[in-house]
Amino acid sequence: MIRVGIIGVGNIAAMLVQAVEFYRRTERTEGLIHHVIGGYRVDDIRFVYAVDVSKQKVGKDLAEAIFAKPNQVPKYVNIPKIGVVVRMGKVLDGVAEHMMEDFAPANEPEPTEKDIIRELEEANVDVVINLLPVGSAKASRFYAEVAAKAGTAFVNCIPEFIASNSHYVKIFEENNGLVLGDDIKGQLGSTIVHRALASLVAMRGAEIVESYQLNVGGNTDFKNMLDHSRLTSKKVSKTMAVASTQPEPEKLLNSLFAGPSGYIPFLGNTKVSYIFMKILGFMGLPVTIDLKLVVDDKAMASAVLADIIRLAKALRDKGIKGAPDWASAFYFKYPPKQAKSDEEALLNLYMKLEELGIEIEPHRLYLWHYINR
Ligand SMILES: NC(=O)c1ccc[n+]([C@@H]2O[C@H](COP(=O)([O-])OP(=O)(O)OC[C@H]3O[C@@H](n4cnc5c(N)ncnc54)[C@H](O)[C@@H]3O)[C@@H](O)[C@H]2O)c1
Repeated sequence: MIRVGIIGVGNIAAMLVQAVEFYRRTERTEGLIHHVIGGYRVDDIRFVYAVDVSKQKVGKDLAEAIFAKPNQVPKYVNIPKIGVVVRMGKVLDGVAEHMMEDFAPANEPEPTEKDIIRELEEANVDVVINLLPVGSAKASRFYAEVAAKAGTAFVNCIPEFIASNSHYVKIFEENNGLVLGDDIKGQLGSTIVHRALASLVAMRGAEIVESYQLNVGGNTDFKNMLDHSRLTSKKVSKTMAVASTQPEPEKLLNSLFAGPSGYIPFLGNTKVSYIFMKILGFMGLPVTIDLKLVVDDKAMASAVLADIIRLAKALRDKGIKGAPDWASAFYFKYPPKQAKSDEEALLNLYMKLEELGIEIEPHRLYLWHYINR
């Protein structure tokens, strides 16, 4: 069993809690990246702890809180009472000025660091997932330190630099903790698709001259990102994820845009991405790629989390600490060290897991079968 704590009971939490229940009730495995990691299946995940600050969610059972407004993930699965009451968190910079209406904080005393450490220990949490709004720099650092000191693994799903920041990695190492991050890549989200296309262009000997990736959506995640001052790390994370696939990443930086580009309320959790590439091909002749991608953004994130939570627990079982870059590169946009392509990232992951004796099934890489022949 894997005991998970949630920081921020928003739309991703609403999808993930339902997804675990969905896969628990069926033999179906379609849509899962890996069926088994370190002996764990998705139905080994249990949610045992949750914090939020919103008055709509604090004090409610997690099964009820995931459907509280402004969350808008539909009810796919009937979730019986979980027995986990959402606790009051520390607000810090989690709630932006323009989000006061959506995330209005509950009228409850805020916990201290010691309170949360005690709560995590009492709930015996193995893995904490950080699902705070973009721009929650102080709050993410607060919860990361708390998780490290409570000895849990910390999965940083948001574009705040924790796993890629040596100061925080040291704190995890000193406490024998593990941190994976930063900024989760969707299963088939705009970053992974953009990266795959960019890797392909480089592999075929062509050159990207200009490229942009515009993203629009209609949930609180997109509304929160209307405040551009909260976006600095998001843009770095998304841009570097694409540029790092190129032979000379810096050369592309001034001609590359990748970031949130608008809030359209009626889109809800549907994210629409437009990816454009102007390419110099054979004899300098132009090639253009113009692609539209439409996804359920929260399903994309949850599919990846279903893997990462099990990976984090499997690594903890083997005593791995700190921020292993090979564990984060396939799953995050801004890992401690980028791979040139997602094939390379997955190959490194498979090789390391094999060395550690951690099973991962099924293998998704043709190259792996070739190497292991
Ligand atoms: N595909 C994806 O959805 C994707 C991909 C990469 C990263 N992310 C990031 O994951 C994060 C979570 O996404 P989401 O859609 O669930 O967000 P959301 O807006 O639905 O939920 C955020 C939750 O955090 C709570 N919160 C705010 N301040 C808090 C605090 N100080 N302590 C505890 N809780 C607090 C809010 O009340 C809300 O419930 C966002 O930062 C998003 O950008 C999402």
